Amino acid sequence: MIPILVPDLPTTEELLPWLQRIEHNKWYTNFGPLVQEFESQLVKLFTQENKGHFKQNLYLTTVSSGTTALELALLALNLPTGCHALLPAFTFPATAIAIKRGGIQPIFTDVDPQQWLLTPKIARQVLEKKSYDVVIPVATFGCPQPVEEWDKFNEETGIPVLIDAAAAFGTQPIGERCIITFSFHATKPFGIGEGGLVVANRFDFIDQVRKLSNFGFDCGTITQSGSNAKLSEYHAAVALAQLKRWPQIIERREKIWEIYRRNLRVMENKISLQKVPSDYIRATLSIKINSINTHLEQFIEELTHQGIQTRRWYYPPLFKFPAFRDAIRISPDGSNDLIITQKLSQCLLGLPFHTSLKEETIAFICRHLRI
Ligand SMILES: Cc1ncc(COP(=O)(O)O)c(C=O)c1O
Repeated sequence: MIPILVPDLPTTEELLPWLQRIEHNKWYTNFGPLVQEFESQLVKLFTQENKGHFKQNLYLTTVSSGTTALELALLALNLPTGCHALLPAFTFPATAIAIKRGGIQPIFTDVDPQQWLLTPKIARQVLEKKSYDVVIPVATFGCPQPVEEWDKFNEETGIPVLIDAAAAFGTQPIGERCIITFSFHATKPFGIGEGGLVVANRFDFIDQVRKLSNFGFDCGTITQSGSNAKLSEYHAAVALAQLKRWPQIIERREKIWEIYRRNLRVMENKISLQKVPSDYIRATLSIKINSINTHLEQFIEELTHQGIQTRRWYYPPLFKFPAFRDAIRISPDGSNDLIITQKLSQCLLGLPFHTSLKEETIAFICRHLRI
């Protein structure tokens, strides 16, 4: 079987010097020296990468996963119980789970048809019909959110913006007012096993998230209940080894995408792809099959028979899951029909995308896409 995803993580040899440092330090968790080093390297990386998107200081804290990053960021916002959060229905369940675990009520809305993002325009259209207390736009499949537009949205409406950029590490710029979370899950482009990150421009906010990741302890007392969501020194060891490999990982991902792009060209009329910026670091590959005459399930079975693993990402739409069935749904035009989300979930097919793929394997996969 050609697997859909294969993590690209450091080898034992690459990890060894970092593991020896843990052994020497005898410090295994609770914001140890490796976590501190990883965080300061991340600040440097964001500052270089951000291409002038922010002028103020940048603060961040590592956590145990992309999900806990969302949960703790929401907790630190200190929103009243029962308030509402706007999010796209076209996302991974973790976005909605974090909302519900925070005692907040999700409001599902639609995404734009090209980038598959909940955009500031959609958020404003919904706001004319229904109020909400926080918006959680998702950097869908790693496609960056327009952070400057979201900063403006926050400035004008006062509504906090928490960008779920789980798969967009290295691609999502940091703004001036938004809070941004990332995932370091093994299958993400920057994978370390499990891990997450919260980034913002306010020290007090990040300081509170960090305290909440350590139960909420603040000078020996607890005023707000948190969780145990700290990144261990072992995960930081993988992360530091991974940072050294990051430029090569980006290069390998670009190469794989370039081979796919050439092979998919013959199908231009039959499929569409997500509209992404040119410097996008591809996390996964989903093709949208234009003609739904093709029976997707049957097609998936044929591909499986050829040894090609596929995945229907974000299928079914979140509001179809029993856990979220009661949630409010509102489209930008005020109806409860989320047309783009429904369409995408019917027509999207995830193909194998990882750095272990060979040119001939990609050609083999594309030859079997007889739509
Ligand atoms: C959009 C989105 N949000 C949140 C998460 C959760 O991240 P993690 O697996 O690190 O908890 C994921 C994971 O794939 C995701 O795709």
